Amino acid sequence: MKWVARAAALFLFCAACSWLDSIKERWYVLNPPFLHELAKDAIAASPDDPQGMISHIITNLTSTYPSTTRAISLNTDSSEWVFNNAGGAMGAMYIIHASITEYLIVFGTPLGTEGHTGLHTADDYFHILVGEQWAFRPGALEMERYAPGDVHYLPRGTAKQYKMHEGCFALEYARGWIPLMMPFGLADTFTSTLDVPTLYHTVRITAREMIKNLLMGKI
Ligand SMILES: *[C@@H]1O[C@H](CO)[C@@H](O)[C@H](O)[C@H]1NC(C)=O
Repeated sequence: MKWVARAAALFLFCAACSWLDSIKERWYVLNPPFLHELAKDAIAASPDDPQGMISHIITNLTSTYPSTTRAISLNTDSSEWVFNNAGGAMGAMYIIHASITEYLIVFGTPLGTEGHTGLHTADDYFHILVGEQWAFRPGALEMERYAPGDVHYLPRGTAKQYKMHEGCFALEYARGWIPLMMPFGLADTFTSTLDVPTLYHTVRITAREMIKNLLMGKI
């Protein structure tokens, strides 16, 4: 009897997850074609000036999604950067938006870095703003190369090795199940850097943004 009840509970849990997964699109506010246009506009407005591009992006997003419409909550404080160590790569990120089904960040480093993309439960759109990102998956004998204005699209459930050669900054948009990406995003902190202040600020900012969005009904 106990095992029948457990099997039934597991079945219901899986059915609920699969139903939620089938309807997750209804919670998306941002969209890839718009963000690609926005990234290209930002590059054209301030070539080789990442700070200028970021200002352009934030100005556009705050007028496209004004707080009065309560569609999405944005973090407009572009001085709020934290280190991010994940998959062996190291850079810094500024979280523009984080909710249960979407995030938008600026990620990069002026030094260059290299690592594993992670195997994620979200589709990932990596819009290069400055520098280049190189990537490769097993079996490919030549690298993929992404330059400013390009998007490196990584569908959920796929992984690559990537390198931000000689420094690169990108506008990264992920849509899918964001909380499930966090163990990958934090693992290197526990197994390598032990950078507790960075862990504290990453969790604090992410939780704050997710809660702000939840309170306005943005899942
Ligand atoms: C924001 O960027 C999009 C995409 O480039 C553009 O179509 C739109 O006109 C911009 N909006 C504002 C208010 O600048």
